[in-house]
Amino acid sequence: MSTTPNTLKSSKITVKPAKGRLAVLTPGMGAVATTFIAGVEAIKRGLAQPVGSYSQLGQIRLGKRTDGRTVPVGELVSLSQLNDLVFGGWDLIPDDAYTAAKKAGVLEKEMLETLKDTLSNIKPMPAVFDQEFVKRLNGTNVKKGETKMDLANQLRADIRNFMKDNNCDRAVMVWCASTEVYTPVSEVHQTLESFERGLNENHPEIAPSMIYAYAAMMEGVPYANGSPNISVELPAIQELSKKTKTPICGSDFKTGQTFLKTVIAPGIRNRLLGVSGWYSTNILGNRDGEVLDDPGSFKSKEVSKTGVLDEIFSKEKYPQLYSDISHLVRINYYPPRGDNKEGWDNLDIFGWMGYPMQIKINFLCRDSILAAPLVLDLALFMDLAGRAGMDGIQEWLSFYFKAPLAKEGLNPEHDLSVQLLKMENTLRFMSGEELINHLGLTYYGVDESRA
Ligand SMILES: NC(=O)c1ccc[n+]([C@@H]2O[C@H](COP(=O)([O-])OP(=O)(O)OC[C@H]3O[C@@H](n4cnc5c(N)ncnc54)[C@H](O)[C@@H]3O)[C@@H](O)[C@H]2O)c1
Repeated sequence: MSTTPNTLKSSKITVKPAKGRLAVLTPGMGAVATTFIAGVEAIKRGLAQPVGSYSQLGQIRLGKRTDGRTVPVGELVSLSQLNDLVFGGWDLIPDDAYTAAKKAGVLEKEMLETLKDTLSNIKPMPAVFDQEFVKRLNGTNVKKGETKMDLANQLRADIRNFMKDNNCDRAVMVWCASTEVYTPVSEVHQTLESFERGLNENHPEIAPSMIYAYAAMMEGVPYANGSPNISVELPAIQELSKKTKTPICGSDFKTGQTFLKTVIAPGIRNRLLGVSGWYSTNILGNRDGEVLDDPGSFKSKEVSKTGVLDEIFSKEKYPQLYSDISHLVRINYYPPRGDNKEGWDNLDIFGWMGYPMQIKINFLCRDSILAAPLVLDLALFMDLAGRAGMDGIQEWLSFYFKAPLAKEGLNPEHDLSVQLLKMENTLRFMSGEELINHLGLTYYGVDESRA
């Protein structure tokens, strides 16, 4: 009988230890960013649990199933401790984190009062903002500059000053600002040279989010994009991320309806059931909902939300099952609900001999409560990637995104379970543990080394 484990050898890569303080910088200090910051502060004080955070609660199996080795993720890889995180950010609205959190109305007043001392000391730096890209917002805390390059340089100075003033060793940036008007990739975004020329010449197709991404790359600061804005997708930003050896990932936090889609749709496809329609609608009353009420910003969201099913239900592979799906996504701004989004999904599916069936999903979720742990994980894992010398696109973090970034020519992976396997194996790889291939024949006496 063979004892070859059903694992693949991996070689240890050098990961610098997570020593010192980590600046977590968020463009945007609204509902998501302040819920994240307040949550970390509450966890540090023992007032809350990090529910929904893989970096804090995840357990990872090592070796064979019979080895009985399962360890917390934070024991396998060196991650920054919550006490070592320092929060900062930018917003056109000058509210400190306490005031912004209070206005966002996500967390209970009592909790916010307990955290007030810390939160009210976190004040946003002036933003790079252009109303052409977010029609519904207007603010006073905005940078001025002759050119977009000037603005990028001001952001770079902010990063350096923040790190110096707060005694930080490293920084990461997670975009938590509003969804901008849909800006597809064009000529100016193609190369770093054309992009930098565009910054100097104030090219109208360079959005603020792209300027933040550029500044982060220039400072070697890992950048994760939590919105559907096109920034990390730009060839110019990808080129720069390789040049400055900086990790990037995105786009658009996978939190509510799309999270469930990437759980349920792969199941339907795996059972080879057909789909003729998937109608998704939401009501949402927070500022994000108000911004998305503008058709230009909604277009960005629509593109990132609808791409998911196209990939999972590949009509090329399964023309009998998925060639004619009506996939509609609606978001309605409905103020009474605030951050407590309600989503309805109606799925029209069909089974054996084409007989129709329906599935209804009603998700009463809390948007920022679902997003906050993703910000934490992304900050810690992007910092880890940086310390491990992994630059450019971090496909292993697809788990967190509606529109996961992958190298050109590679189909993004949308299935949440597959995304988790990829993330787990990457963490094993980084720490020199064997990769798990899930073949499992070795337990039945088969020599897997023949494979
Ligand atoms: N909450 C979720 O479940 C979820 C899921 C996926 C994506 N997102 C995305 O996360 C982002 C944040 O969501 P939110 O609910 O916190 O929204 P929010 O409106 O409460 O906060 C966004 C903040 O960004 C600021 N802002 C806008 N443009 C800026 C700029 N150029 N620079 C600096 N600040 C800027 C706004 O003033 C606002 O305070 C949105 O893009 C949203 O689409 C949220």
